[in-house]
Amino acid sequence: MSEVSFTPRVFSGIQPSGRLTLGNYLGAMKRFVEMQDEGRETIYCMVDLHAITVWQDPADLRRATRELCAGYLAAGLNPEKSILFNQSQVPEHTQLAWIFNCVARMGWMQRMTQWKDKAGKNQQNASLGLFAYPALMAADILLYHATHIPVGEDQKQHVELTRDIAIKFNNDFGQEFFPIPEPVIEGAATRVMSLRDGSKKMSKSDPSDMSRINLTDDADTIAKKIRKAKTDPEPLPSEAKGLEERAEARNLVNIYAALSEQSVDQVMADVGGKAFSEFKPMLADLAVDRLAPISQEMARLMGDVSEIDRILGRGAERAREIASPILQKTYDIVGMVGAKG
Ligand code: AMP
Ligand code: TRP
Repeated sequence: MSEVSFTPRVFSGIQPSGRLTLGNYLGAMKRFVEMQDEGRETIYCMVDLHAITVWQDPADLRRATRELCAGYLAAGLNPEKSILFNQSQVPEHTQLAWIFNCVARMGWMQRMTQWKDKAGKNQQNASLGLFAYPALMAADILLYHATHIPVGEDQKQHVELTRDIAIKFNNDFGQEFFPIPEPVIEGAATRVMSLRDGSKKMSKSDPSDMSRINLTDDADTIAKKIRKAKTDPEPLPSEAKGLEERAEARNLVNIYAALSEQSVDQVMADVGGKAFSEFKPMLADLAVDRLAPISQEMARLMGDVSEIDRILGRGAERAREIASPILQKTYDIVGMVGAKG
């Protein structure tokens, strides 16, 4: 497979379910902006069709989709440079997903850890959409012949499944039609952990709001959450190795490193030996300094949703210009009469 024949193109998505967290920002959005500013072709989606694989109140979904778009813009994405749109406005996603439902195997889906986690003990009662979710994600990516996929650590398995689907499609139909995309998992905080439990990822859906920092939190709330974050009684070590068995301490140091754009070793050189009572206020100040401008800008943008809706509508048109010919070609390869291959 000659991957070189595909123009590099970046694609990623975030679900509009609940509020954006520091995990989304450091694991995904911050990288999205960097990749845009490196001058690559970048496409970023609000994956509303993924969100409804578990129940979403319609009014909350609408608000969360617009708020996610506001978050993208506030974090530095520029709708003139990147294509920004919500998934449901580009019907080709679900059309290609159907083809991939017929390529992917039940066994592949059953191995997905996110499926196992989200469906829990009662798989029979989970939606069919939740099970098929990774095939829709593969469609999101391959519909644009995207080659680079910036995501947090938890999405690696889904990008690998996307590769498997692309490889099987190409083999089944005897054509190198889809690229084999690469996950891009970079930065000091590709897996931001809960502030209450260093073994769990920071998540929008955690029942405890104290477990996460939301991009919409005000300065006092951010400071309070960091002050109350779980830690151990020891002072910070002076080398990264000393954090190995200390999940909560490691998490706070990783967050500090990512927000201050330093390596973990650089941070350790500065803060090694300090007690948490000294380190936590430093982290709180840094977090407020980096996040307050984002939350203020999000609030401002949410004051006029017509502008957000316009950006999403225009983004969807641009996305369809790329997606439509690729879907038609796929239909043609599969043998659908009338496809404009
Ligand atoms: P989601 O909120 O599940 O739609 O995730 C959107 C993006 O944020 C994906 O690339 C995730 O990998 C990333 N992400 C979500 N939570 C975290 C976290 N706690 N740490 C790092 N990345 C995360
Ligand atoms: N499944 C991803 C998540 O929950 C969101 C997503 C949907 C995505 N489609 C995508 C990420 C395509 C990258 C590329 O985080």
